[in-house]
Amino acid sequence: MMRFKDKIVLVMGGNSGMGLATAKAFAAEGAKVHITGRNRQTLDETVASVPGSKGYQADIADITSSEDVVAQIEAEDGRIDVLYINAGVGGFAPLRDITPDAWDHTHSINLKGCVFALQKAVRIMGRGGSVVVTGSIGAHASLPGNAVYAAAKGGLYAAMKVFAGELVSEGIRLNMVSPGPIDTPLLYRNPGMTDEAIAALKEKMIENVPMHRMGQGEEVAKAVLFLASDDASFITAANLFVDGGMLELR
Ligand SMILES: NC(=O)c1ccc[n+]([C@@H]2O[C@H](COP(=O)([O-])OP(=O)(O)OC[C@H]3O[C@@H](n4cnc5c(N)ncnc54)[C@H](OP(=O)(O)O)[C@@H]3O)[C@@H](O)[C@H]2O)c1
Repeated sequence: MMRFKDKIVLVMGGNSGMGLATAKAFAAEGAKVHITGRNRQTLDETVASVPGSKGYQADIADITSSEDVVAQIEAEDGRIDVLYINAGVGGFAPLRDITPDAWDHTHSINLKGCVFALQKAVRIMGRGGSVVVTGSIGAHASLPGNAVYAAAKGGLYAAMKVFAGELVSEGIRLNMVSPGPIDTPLLYRNPGMTDEAIAALKEKMIENVPMHRMGQGEEVAKAVLFLASDDASFITAANLFVDGGMLELR
């Protein structure tokens, strides 16, 4: 299939995990893919592995950097057809250990940064455009220690539902994918957690998934491409769980 032939795609947070898998999938279906991320090394490796792509070192928490990326794409390609806002950070802390700094850090990326990235990018999107945003099952399930992250992703879910309604009249669809536990580097980026604690967390997650495994980034990518494509032409404001049945069956 070449559902994205000649389409201009921006993947924000595309140099690791499910964003990387999705960037590769878009390119494999004919898209020109622009990719953002913070880490220069993985960004360069990503661009080398995604045919025809361009990389931008940009922190989504820095709103002017999102604006700059969009301006560069406008200068080069004139428009964005598909926007995938995927950048996000994890991190666990129970109520008694939550700090204001950790709250602000997570929310500046997972909520505020994503909202303003959308605001900047839709400026150069037109009718027929499509936006997909990565949410999380964490916003809809009570997972101890996950409040900061859940609040940010829950806020993102609420905001995106409103924006989906606002964008209907502009002919732009906006949908969310909400993954369950996916085997990506995110799990290993939990500050303060030992390798043993991470392994235990992984086991606990698998126990809670009816399919008894973690998902793969490529499985999320397939859902993103479906929602981004014309195959989903009558779908907007949807929230698609990619979670092995975890939310509905547990
Ligand atoms: N893995 C899961 O189980 C799971 C479940 C539900 C939802 N999610 C969500 O899925 C998304 C992708 O996560 P992943 O699991 O694929 O993790 P990952 O491998 O850690 O990838 C996260 C991506 O977001 C980028 N990113 C993070 N902070 C950023 C920032 N401030 N500015 C720009 N880019 C930033 C990272 O780039 P750098 O490496 O350069 O920072 C990377 O490309 C996140 O929104 C996450 O919350 C993950």
